[in-house]
Amino acid sequence: MEIVESIELMQQRMARTRAAGSTIAFVPTMGFLHDGHLSLLKEGRRRSDLLVLSIFVNPTQFGQGEDFDDYPRDFQQDCVLAQSAGVDIIFTPTAMAMYSTGYATEVNVSGITSGLCGASRPTHFRGVCTVVTKLFNIVQPHIALFGSKDFQQLAVVKRMTRDLNLPIEIVGMAIYRETDGLAMSSRNVYLNSEQRCQALALSQGITLAQDMVKQGEAEAGAVLAAVSSHLGAQSLIRPDYIAVCHQSTLEPQQQIDKDSVLLIAAFVGSTRLIDNGYLMDAS
Ligand code: PAJ
Repeated sequence: MEIVESIELMQQRMARTRAAGSTIAFVPTMGFLHDGHLSLLKEGRRRSDLLVLSIFVNPTQFGQGEDFDDYPRDFQQDCVLAQSAGVDIIFTPTAMAMYSTGYATEVNVSGITSGLCGASRPTHFRGVCTVVTKLFNIVQPHIALFGSKDFQQLAVVKRMTRDLNLPIEIVGMAIYRETDGLAMSSRNVYLNSEQRCQALALSQGITLAQDMVKQGEAEAGAVLAAVSSHLGAQSLIRPDYIAVCHQSTLEPQQQIDKDSVLLIAAFVGSTRLIDNGYLMDAS
């Protein structure tokens, strides 16, 4: 496994790989890898000749007062896990190299970035789209894998890739969960034991909603009220949003149909967690 920090070296390495006719799979991350990240890497490994993982805690997607400085980092452990998942190259650029003096260009996707996480984190998706575009240009992958845990991010990246005619297949992967249902997240490490326990209300809320729909409920309002009261029963949880949206447009829906997704963001203590699930066809 190679570790590459230089953008120029990475571009040369990728050009050689493409010239040799090899396929490249790419998994962009901010590190502190867990089994969710590893599920993306394993699928990337299966689908390509060369597997690239990027580890870059991107400053531009964190708003003021968010957790950029505290974001968990453990590069040594990440290397061990990456090796076990069959990664060929870890690309780990510095912030100085990615955003050198005079940096002035941003990529902005409108519409689907305005609601949900975009409403509470207004600069977040501009930062994500800009860094993902830069990483795509450096790595030049054939496929890139993203988790549906960050459902809006996946929809935004798909939209951006289509709109900008980037020749990259975006692969969305299922949410990887702890055995008790909590969606894996690098931020789970912030939770103390009581918060960790109450955080289960997010995945429980999704199961509750799916059960209601299975039993015939079709009104989003009724489902939202039930989920909201479930989360509200937890003293350490402060919901940011609970929404039923169309899976592609992310527009709120009144009536539940096969495209409906329940999306939740909530602060557990000061940690902001997200989770989601389709409301129909959930077995
Ligand atoms: P990060 O939070 O490190 O996540 C990297 C990738 O792992 C994302 O595609 C995310 O959706 C996926 N992922 C995280 N938890 C998951 C889980 N429990 N199951 C499945 N996949 C999961 O998302 C980012 O980094 C950044 O915004 C990035 C795209 C790298 C741009 O900076």
